[in-house]
Amino acid sequence: MTPARFRVAIVGAGPSGLFAAQFLTAHPDVAVDIFDRLPTPYGLLRYGVAPDHTSIKSVATALARVFESPAVRFLGLVTFGRDVTREELLAGYDAVIYAVGASEDLRMGVTGEDATGSRSAREFVAWYSGHPDAEPQSLAGVHQAAAVGVGNVAVDVARLLVKEPLALASTDMPEDVLAELSRADVRDVWVIGRRGPQHASFTTTELRELCNTPGVRVSVEPESFEWIEDDLLDRRSRTNLAVLRAASETRVQNPRVRLHFLFWRRPVEVQGDPVSGLVLERTVIGPDGRVRGTGETEQLSVQLVLRAIGYRAIRPPGVPFDDRLGVIPTERGRVLHDGAVAPREYAVGWIKRGPVGVIGTNKSDARETVQQVLADLAELGPRDEHTDVPALLSDRGLHPSTFEDWRRIEAAEANRGASHERERMKIEAWHELLDLVQRERPGGPIPQ
Ligand SMILES: Cc1cc2nc3c(=O)[nH]c(=O)nc-3n(C[C@H](O)[C@H](O)[C@H](O)COP(=O)(O)OP(=O)(O)OC[C@H]3O[C@@H](n4cnc5c(N)ncnc54)[C@H](O)[C@@H]3O)c2cc1C
Ligand SMILES: NC(=O)c1ccc[n+]([C@@H]2O[C@H](COP(=O)([O-])OP(=O)(O)OC[C@H]3O[C@@H](n4cnc5c(N)ncnc54)[C@H](OP(=O)(O)O)[C@@H]3O)[C@@H](O)[C@H]2O)c1
Repeated sequence: MTPARFRVAIVGAGPSGLFAAQFLTAHPDVAVDIFDRLPTPYGLLRYGVAPDHTSIKSVATALARVFESPAVRFLGLVTFGRDVTREELLAGYDAVIYAVGASEDLRMGVTGEDATGSRSAREFVAWYSGHPDAEPQSLAGVHQAAAVGVGNVAVDVARLLVKEPLALASTDMPEDVLAELSRADVRDVWVIGRRGPQHASFTTTELRELCNTPGVRVSVEPESFEWIEDDLLDRRSRTNLAVLRAASETRVQNPRVRLHFLFWRRPVEVQGDPVSGLVLERTVIGPDGRVRGTGETEQLSVQLVLRAIGYRAIRPPGVPFDDRLGVIPTERGRVLHDGAVAPREYAVGWIKRGPVGVIGTNKSDARETVQQVLADLAELGPRDEHTDVPALLSDRGLHPSTFEDWRRIEAAEANRGASHERERMKIEAWHELLDLVQRERPGGPIPQ
């Protein structure tokens, strides 16, 4: 096989990076190395999408096909900015695409936010998804819980808290997570929006699924629906309102859990350490269109506060970054450095657009970025020389994991699942993942 004329590095093997690789390798002239800090590809598709949402998880099967191409290599266990720098990638490849997503979260900025029992939905999601960096999350003593935010992440964490654990038993959740959820005795969950139900960003399918969870009684204060002119709303908001109205009118006998939607409230204080309460302030929209507090407060007795108010990207070391927007500044995917295009550098996915959008959004986004990459490669041509980045890593004693290593992890997860009559069970401990990666290739060669 003749070597590809162009070499492209993609940093991040989440949906956006893999969609970009798919578009790039439609061109026989392009070879792609995909780096990720984890030995597992798929980003939030593996470590964010809820375990009971199995149909969307199957997108991974489609994305995995990109690795069937001999022009694509997976280099796991390589952290950009620590193991390899921006300059090194730029010297090794004709183009570098940053697809690192958003790995942090926004803070509420209220007193008590760091108390035990107050944490981000991101941490909670990472835990139930079996992310190797996740801290164990105890639900001992939690009878009342609050999710702050009315987006799909809030809906996910609320659903996981109100769902009958048996209904999760067939998922790929790690055993310890399932055991903790099974032991839990959560009786009330509040989902809190700082604006009205017509402004919520959750989608109707997700909301309906949450409201229809068996054994759950839903309440919404009737005043939340007042003064809303349905005719002026977009279709999603209208159907969201219909779902909320119907759910709040549905009688559920002997509910296992009560789910309360509270709108027009914002958190102002987390009380106690460990958490014992959440103080909320009533809100209105001011003349400037912004949410402001009215000064009227109330207290909820809760033992768990999950802030689900948005993810946040962190600056990839050395790369231009807009701190205010939390994105790499770009023009149609081309990285901008002080407003000017930085040659051979691109971004895609949440690090380009910010932490919004479903998996599919990243496909059209990747198409846009790859169009610029291909246009620029045609114009600039390949570099005269390429540093061999895998060799450079090897010289440093770093041995990236391969796609075959990931297949081994996958097989081990399927084996573990089979012994529990499940299709798969996530392996969440770093040492177990590393054992699987290294067992057959202890410090072995970098794939060629
Ligand atoms: C909780 C949650 C649930 C969701 N559920 C759904 C759903 O059900 N359906 C749906 O369509 N969408 C869902 N989404 C949205 C979807 O997950 C995102 O649109 C998508 O994952 C964004 O893709 P990305 O590639 O930009 O980022 P990510 O998926 O975050 O991928 C980024 C990758 O970069 C790697 N990385 C990060 N930093 C470095 C570094 N320094 N060096 C090397 N590698 C690095 C990460 O390990 C990761 O693999 C959900 C999002 C969240 C947060
Ligand atoms: N099943 C799925 O398809 C699925 C599941 C999970 C996530 N996702 C996607 O992933 C993306 C991220 O989801 P997300 O839920 O993190 O984000 P999101 O949709 O932007 O929702 C964030 C929520 O937090 C609120 N908020 C922000 N700052 C706040 C503050 N300081 N105090 C109180 N509330 C605050 C926002 O209210 P305001 O509107 O008032 O700002 C909004 O309700 C979305 O595109 C989502 O659709 C999809």
